[in-house]
Amino acid sequence: MSLKLLFFCAFIQVAWLEIVDKRILLNDPGQIEQRLRHLELEVQTLKTENENLKGRLDLRETFQKGGVAVYTRWGRNDCPSNVSEEVYSGYAAGGWWNDKGSPTNYLCLPPDPISSGKSVSSGCNHLFGVEYESGFWGQHSHNEDAPCAVCSSTSGSKILMIPGRDRCYPGWTEQYNGYLGTNRLDYTGATEYVCVDHHPQYLNGGERGTDGALFHPVTYQCGALQCPPYTSNEVVNCVVCTK
Ligand SMILES: *[C@@H]1O[C@H](CO)[C@@H](O)[C@H](O)[C@H]1NC(C)=O
Repeated sequence: MSLKLLFFCAFIQVAWLEIVDKRILLNDPGQIEQRLRHLELEVQTLKTENENLKGRLDLRETFQKGGVAVYTRWGRNDCPSNVSEEVYSGYAAGGWWNDKGSPTNYLCLPPDPISSGKSVSSGCNHLFGVEYESGFWGQHSHNEDAPCAVCSSTSGSKILMIPGRDRCYPGWTEQYNGYLGTNRLDYTGATEYVCVDHHPQYLNGGERGTDGALFHPVTYQCGALQCPPYTSNEVVNCVVCTK
């Protein structure tokens, strides 16, 4: 057999085998079924992955848009209705102004407490109502008792209180503004700085000076604090912003 013929025969054989192979593929229902099942499985896997991703996106949207930021508005019994919803409003409270062991944080007590049914007379700390202990806060504010409201923001989940400004930075929504309030300088009870509303309200019949926890205004003191931009003895304002 010549070399040419040998090559020709080999070529015919390969071509024939390919034809047979294709016919088997097209005519074999078992093989088609197997491929379909494989495809179905892949589609199922993709669907599951897609559902997982959608769920994660929904969660992110909730956090970005939802009323997740909750804050206390000090000095008011209402929440700014165009940017928040009220959770409850009640009574501002804290430790005695001159107790060395007074905890630092003010609390917003609800108007409808649920009794613990237990009592102790020593080895405890105290919770008093808050008085505006200065005429600074408004007409006849001295000795009036302070309300508070707990508000849930409907305009963003990030929240920030800025001391030293009464306006938010661009892109942020104002919840309320006011002045920093805390205990008086020479009293021994520790407290935090909170933002007391610009237009504070008073609780009914609270004008008796019974003391308790107090709101005094706060002023800048130059030195380590840069002046300008700050000014000694000026009252510190504040704003609560959400985004
Ligand atoms: C919400 O209402 C207050 C008072 O009416 C207004 O000053 C403020 O601009 C309003 N905020 C928004 C985001 O509309």
